[in-house]
Amino acid sequence: MSSLEVTIRLGTPEDAGGILDCLVSTLAERVWFDRDENEMGITDPSVLKNKIREFRSGERAYIVAAQGDKILGFILVVRGGIKSTRHTADFGMSLLPGFRDRGIGTMLVQAAMDWASEHGVEKLYCCTFDTNPRAVKLYEKFGFVREGVRVKQYKIAGEYVDQIMFGKILN
Ligand SMILES: CC(C)(COP(=O)(O)OP(=O)(O)OC[C@H]1O[C@@H](n2cnc3c(N)ncnc32)[C@H](O)[C@@H]1OP(=O)(O)O)[C@@H](O)C(=O)NCCC(=O)NCCS
Repeated sequence: MSSLEVTIRLGTPEDAGGILDCLVSTLAERVWFDRDENEMGITDPSVLKNKIREFRSGERAYIVAAQGDKILGFILVVRGGIKSTRHTADFGMSLLPGFRDRGIGTMLVQAAMDWASEHGVEKLYCCTFDTNPRAVKLYEKFGFVREGVRVKQYKIAGEYVDQIMFGKILN
């Protein structure tokens, strides 16, 4: 699959089902996130559809990687909701298992950085597990720095996992 076949664009309410499918598949792997698919907040596509409809521009956005109608992955960027954090935005991302290691995550992080710059966000941040070398590599490639480590923050499949906090000041 060449990267030319993948479109990176702002997610719309119609993408809700594809975004949830992607999230469910990733959570079902039980190794990348702090919760499993039974602990998801939103499971009903129509609920997510309405939430996306209510997103205010510059406050939060799903940016999706799509191949035609199929959602291959997404990055969710969420701006700080109070005065003291308005200059920051948090993000989380997920790709369907069959579509990793092909540069799509790189395109999504770039798109999130572009979105942040367009909306005057000064700092982007995220977290990952120390057991996720792909995510660590991806964030460090973009100049995110390790701001801290929460040791044994999670227990995943019976094993302790450290949480690494990454941040990048945007210029
Ligand atoms: C993490 C994730 C979003 C990255 O997206 P992706 O499309 O796979 O990433 P890319 O292909 O753009 O980049 C991955 C980089 O990691 C590197 N990489 C892959 N496996 C690696 C490993 N075991 N050790 C070190 N680097 C590794 C790749 O070579 C690539 O670097 P490069 O561009 O310099 O060659 C995606 O793999 C995913 O959804 N994973 C499961 C869910 C998840 O982990 N979400 C993030 C939670 S914080």
